[in-house]
Amino acid sequence: MKSTTKHWSVHILTLFPEMFPGPLNFSLVGKALKEKIWSLNLVNLRDFAENGPKSVDDKPYGGGPGMIIKSEVIDNALKKVTKKIKQYSLIYLTPKGKKINQKKIKELVKKDNLILLCGKYEGIDQRVIENWSMEELSIGDFVLSGGEIAAMSLLDSCIRLLPGVVGSSETLKHETFENNLLEYPQYTKPSNWKGRKVPDILLSGNHQKIEEWRKKKSFEITKLKRPDLFKK
Ligand code: ADE
Repeated sequence: MKSTTKHWSVHILTLFPEMFPGPLNFSLVGKALKEKIWSLNLVNLRDFAENGPKSVDDKPYGGGPGMIIKSEVIDNALKKVTKKIKQYSLIYLTPKGKKINQKKIKELVKKDNLILLCGKYEGIDQRVIENWSMEELSIGDFVLSGGEIAAMSLLDSCIRLLPGVVGSSETLKHETFENNLLEYPQYTKPSNWKGRKVPDILLSGNHQKIEEWRKKKSFEITKLKRPDLFKK
């Protein structure tokens, strides 16, 4: 491990541990996993069902479709996981949660231990959410079949911010959502593609002018595409 890096530990409580690391095994994030910049600890909720692996869920009181994961299953799993770690952030991924943004991602990166609970779309017993004071987070206003893909999205965006993962901190400074702005457009060779030319300024070598142009573009694009961000 490089001296500039800290170890970032993640526990994932899920009914589908086989889904991991999945996409987190690739690219910068996968490399960081191999380099032990972060670690992935998978907890299969079925192992904590008191009457065998088939008893993780049951019908909702009051009727309705689907099955609800039982409090006791999640409680048993959390008791075991938290025995080993003193300080942690416990997050339940749910479309009912507060929507995650880049600011939230930066906060999460600062925590040393994350525990992510992945539910099914039908949900989990409300009482265990309250009993463990879980933070409920959503990745957007759409419904996934379970929290696993949401957890992967959250982790991917956290891990690339860990020291030593993205090569240059300059890269992170200019990217989309920094200062509530979308990133300026980028181009590479050829300078003329199907008659579409790269803006002259980018070929000028004048770094100050290029910087000004990029800032202007960032403002224009943000105002046009994300007026909500622009207002901030
Ligand atoms: N589980 C199902 N849908 C979700 C969403 N949009 N965000 C987080 N977790 C979810």
